[in-house]
Amino acid sequence: MRGIIVTPGTEGGARLAELEEPERGEDQLLVRTMALGVCGTDREILDGRYGWAPPGRGWLVLGHESLGRVAAAPSGCEFAAGDFVVGIVRRPDPAPCVCCARGEFDMCRNGGYRERGIKELDGYGAELVTLEPEFAVKVDPSLGLLGVLTEPTSVVAKAWERIDRVKYQACPPLASALITGAGPIGLLAALLGVQRGLEVHLLDRAREGPKPELARSLGVSYHSGKVADACREAEPEVVLECTGAPELVAEVVQGSAPATVECLLGVSPSGRALIDVGTLNNELVLENDVVFGSVNANRRHFAAAADALAAADPDWLTRLITRRVPLAAWTEAFDKRDTDIKTVIDFTDDTR
Ligand code: BGC
Repeated sequence: MRGIIVTPGTEGGARLAELEEPERGEDQLLVRTMALGVCGTDREILDGRYGWAPPGRGWLVLGHESLGRVAAAPSGCEFAAGDFVVGIVRRPDPAPCVCCARGEFDMCRNGGYRERGIKELDGYGAELVTLEPEFAVKVDPSLGLLGVLTEPTSVVAKAWERIDRVKYQACPPLASALITGAGPIGLLAALLGVQRGLEVHLLDRAREGPKPELARSLGVSYHSGKVADACREAEPEVVLECTGAPELVAEVVQGSAPATVECLLGVSPSGRALIDVGTLNNELVLENDVVFGSVNANRRHFAAAADALAAADPDWLTRLITRRVPLAAWTEAFDKRDTDIKTVIDFTDDTR
C-alpha cells in the first residue's frame, strides 16, 4: 500500500512510499483511508520545523485530518465494516497526567502525549490504517468526503466549549463574536458560532475570492479593515483569533473592548516584539480581559464536530474544500494558491 512518509527535522525528504499493510490487532479497526486534509502543521512537518518520528525510527507517516471507511472491526464493538470514521489525533501520555487520566488528553500537562501524524505515532496518510475504537468517531455517511472536515471542526468545537466556561461567570452575556482569519479554522468557527445563534463577524484581508461570499452565505458580516474598526462595529464579547499573525494578535488584545474574551487558535512565527509586557498587562488587568490559547481536541469535541457538520448545509461545506488532489499527486496539495481554503488529498481518486 502507499503512504506519505516524512523525516521529521529534515526539509524536503517527504515521499510517497510503498509500505507494508498494517496488521490489525484483535481490538483494533482496520480503516481504508478516503481522504486526508492538509493544514499548516503538515506544512511545518514537511519543512522540518515540527514533528517527531516514532522512537527508534527516522520516519513518520504524515496526516492527522482523516476520513476513512471501516474495512474490519472487532466483533461486538460499536463499529462495523462500511462505517465512515475519523481518527482522533492525540493519545494520552503513558504516566498519565491528571488530565489524560480523565480523558481530557487535549489538555495534557506533562507534554508526554503522542499525536498521530505529528508526534511519535504514524499518521493517517496511508491507504490502510489501524485505529483503536476508543479513538475513532463515526461521521454521517451522507457527508461523504466532507467528513474530512471533522478534525479542524473539533478544534473549534473545543474552543467554543472553553469560551462557554469562561463566559459562564462573566458579564456581559455572549451575543456577538468576531473571528479573525477566514481560513478553514476561522470559517468553521464562524459556522459553529452561527449554529449557536450568535451574531458573527469575520475579518480577513481578502477582499475577493471565495471568502467574502462564504461568509455572506452563512449570514456572517465580513470585514477586511482593522480589528479595532471591526470591534467598534461588532461590539463582540468574544474574539477568536485564527491567524496567529503577530500583528493581528496584538490588534485583538489592544483593539477589543473591556471584558472581552480572546481565544487564540493560530500558531505564530516567533522573534518579533510588537507589544511590551507592561502594556499587555495593563490591557488585561484594567479591562478584565481573558486571553487564552487553545489547541487539539478530545473525543467529546470530535463528537460535537461530527454533529455540527451533519447539521450544516452540505453545499456550503463543499465550497470550503477548494482543491482535491489524488494521492499520486499529493505534493500538489502543498502548493499555495490564493483561492485555497481547505485542500484535501483524495485517496479514492485512483489517478496515478
Ligand atoms: C492539530 C492538533 C495538534 C496541533 C499540534 C494541529 O494542527 O489540529 O490536533 O494538537 O496541530 O501538534
